[in-house]
Amino acid sequence: MVVDFSNQQGTQQMSELSVVIVAQDSEQRAVLQVLVDGTSVARTVHTCATFPIGATDPVVRRIQSANPDVVLVDIPSDNVGLALRAIELIHQELPKPALFAIGAMSQAQVIVNAMRSGAREFIERPTTTTDLLEAFVRLTTAQRKVTREGQQRGKIYTVVNAKGGSGATTCAVNLALALQAAHGGVALVDIAPLGHTALHMNLKPLFNVADAIRNLHRLDSSLLESFMTRHERGLQLLAGTNTPGPVEPSTAEFARLFDMLAAQFSYVVVDASTRMDATTRLVCNLSETVLLVASTDVASLWSAARVQQFLGENSGRERVMLVLNRFRKIAGFSESDAEAAAGVKLLWKIPNQYFAVSTAIDRGIPLMNQNHTEIARSFTALAHRLTENDVDVKRRAWSLFKTV
Ligand SMILES: Nc1ncnc2c1ncn2[C@@H]1O[C@H](COP(=O)(O)OP(=O)(O)OP(=O)(O)O)[C@@H](O)[C@H]1O
Ligand SMILES: [Mg+2]
Repeated sequence: MVVDFSNQQGTQQMSELSVVIVAQDSEQRAVLQVLVDGTSVARTVHTCATFPIGATDPVVRRIQSANPDVVLVDIPSDNVGLALRAIELIHQELPKPALFAIGAMSQAQVIVNAMRSGAREFIERPTTTTDLLEAFVRLTTAQRKVTREGQQRGKIYTVVNAKGGSGATTCAVNLALALQAAHGGVALVDIAPLGHTALHMNLKPLFNVADAIRNLHRLDSSLLESFMTRHERGLQLLAGTNTPGPVEPSTAEFARLFDMLAAQFSYVVVDASTRMDATTRLVCNLSETVLLVASTDVASLWSAARVQQFLGENSGRERVMLVLNRFRKIAGFSESDAEAAAGVKLLWKIPNQYFAVSTAIDRGIPLMNQNHTEIARSFTALAHRLTENDVDVKRRAWSLFKTV
């Protein structure tokens, strides 16, 4: 399947990538082509059945004339050397395309050698559309950072639960409000299986994330904003679904939606709560930091380890950080015990204040509205911690200082 976007101009923030596939095995070539085209953000423009063996090899010229953004090279387990040589050769001869190697994850040395030869990504075989989509999105994001200098793209922070009811929504809502108070330009996006963020803020949204996805083909910044609901403090909410049930795993569409959100807002906070699917994995992969919310009990920390494994399948491990909610000191159980049990580095601890939190939710008046409390101060400090190294935040603080 080859997807043609030519008649959908103005809707594709993320322009389509052209891809050349180099794979000896005909079945693998066909599979990769279906997977690439299935991402909806890339299109196969040429396939090669042989590896180039020298700079003057006609295969190199054929790849060059296809003018690809990405070359996928399949590393067959019985012909690793030839495939690695091909990667090196293409890297030397064609500086423009990014090289993605596809191979078995079990051979660490092959991965290292592929990267040394010039591969930018190493993608596991059997490959999925999500794996490819994530690699394509990473490439586009990195390229955009280089080409659009000075025009900063927003950062995405995703909040996920280790276990249902751990406090992801409380954390996402109050972190978003804290970021909004400190910097402005914040969006809160609710992708939870059943969206609770609007209730937490006593908002009555007319539209939700499903409307934005449905209208993606004609979505521009003003239409996107019209689907969002403004909180009195300026935070823009893209509300979650109010009909429980299985959610369509439409990861390519979510990639485009978040691409647009990051272009428009300084910070995007995502409440994924207990949604564990390809969409959550993709959004986590696009995130600066994933806040994995857990309590300090055995079941929560065990679950945190499982969730982190699920999210970390594609190189995202260091992005995922632990947030201990309802934190209180337990004799004989240290913070490093919690880190070890979850296998995730501790980012933050949120105090245990059942009365304050449940009243805030029931009344729809978020904790951040009472900013003198200990728990509100904790979210303010968390927002500060997450943004302290941001260049534009620093620059803004400096210019503020100059004008005072
Ligand atoms: N820091 C806290 N101290 C005490 N209680 C808390 C704290 N944070 C959350 N809670 C309690 O936990 C409950 C669940 O909170 P919240 O809705 O934020 O969780 P969630 O993880 O998003 O849930 P779900 O799995 O339904 O998405 C709330 O009713 C609240 O009272
Ligand atoms: Mg929730």
